[in-house]
Amino acid sequence: MARYYDAFGKPFFFKFDPEHAHALAVSGMTWLGRVRPLCAILERLHQLPPSAHAPVDFCGLQFPNAVGLAAGFDKNGTAWPAAAALGFGHVEIGTVARYGQEGNPRPRVFRYPSEEAVINRMGFNNEGAEALARRLARLPGPGRRAIPLGINLGKTKVTPMAKATEDYLGSFALLADHADYVAINVSSPNTPGLRELQDAAWLEPLLRALVEANAARVAAGKPRRPLLLKIAPDLTFGQIDAALTVIATLGLDGIIATNTTLARPGFFHDVDQAGGLSGRPLRRRSTEIVKYIARATNGRLPIIGVGGILDEASAAEKLDAGATLVQLYTGLIYRGPLFARDLAFALAARQQKF
Ligand SMILES: Cc1cc2nc3c(=O)[nH]c(=O)nc-3n(C[C@H](O)[C@H](O)[C@H](O)COP(=O)(O)O)c2cc1C
Repeated sequence: MARYYDAFGKPFFFKFDPEHAHALAVSGMTWLGRVRPLCAILERLHQLPPSAHAPVDFCGLQFPNAVGLAAGFDKNGTAWPAAAALGFGHVEIGTVARYGQEGNPRPRVFRYPSEEAVINRMGFNNEGAEALARRLARLPGPGRRAIPLGINLGKTKVTPMAKATEDYLGSFALLADHADYVAINVSSPNTPGLRELQDAAWLEPLLRALVEANAARVAAGKPRRPLLLKIAPDLTFGQIDAALTVIATLGLDGIIATNTTLARPGFFHDVDQAGGLSGRPLRRRSTEIVKYIARATNGRLPIIGVGGILDEASAAEKLDAGATLVQLYTGLIYRGPLFARDLAFALAARQQKF
């Protein structure tokens, strides 16, 4: 299938500027997701048969395979109903902020095909938590979906840092009912101040408030939602240790490593474009961080590994480093819509060999 994408799909999509190509891909998936009988057929074709693989257990949820769609692709939650039909084992929508916002001025996404990389400075363009909650309320909820749905929360740009916790709490209150898990994004490089929330002094009160809001759900007879923290690849190991201490103290459920990087290795040294770098140049660093976290927590903290997955080897490397699930975004751009399916089948075959 990858051959067809290389021959036809990629030349077609790469004719458009990256954001336009992305909008076309989201529209295509949104359309597909509305044609339920077609999705059902494609799900049969593109999901692993139960005989090929045991479902993956992660944070108390069951995933049909280990490969997910990373946050940022489906910011407004319109495309996810088609994700299972493309072979994904889960999908993380968002980042959604408490209030809708435009994001940064365009152009704000740049492809580097020779490096299989992307730089983006989207800046959380999204319709806001209320609009997303209304949309999700019309669609099948947790337990009634083909694959689990994560919702990734970020801070509204105009919300001052001192009010960041309220901003996340407001989104959590609106969206937790609709999420299988909630990701707390404190690692995107394109919202001023956001990454400071990774420092323990900011992180502890933010996560504590979310953990308490989750406990209040349970007290009110609602299901608890697994809470995962998404971190940047640019943290030092000391900063990661501090974040892990907060996670352990509060009993957070897991971690997503990693978001895009501000580093500009090799080819990118002279590229003068602000934003987060993703794809192949991120692979090594994100795997290193997955490995570090797995070691530091004796394999006890559930990890989703993200960054530079462009083939079976780069996905297997994240699992070998200690991740239970992987996610990809840039790989979808360079390998096409059935890349997740191909990966999931390859990883299942690999597992059966061992
Ligand atoms: C265009 C673009 C937009 C993104 N937007 C978000 C976002 O809104 N929230 C988030 O947590 N990560 C976002 N990401 C980061 C991805 O979820 C992922 O962590 C990162 O790209 C590394 O994975 P990859 O190398 O497979 O792309 C975005 C990435 C790209 C390329």
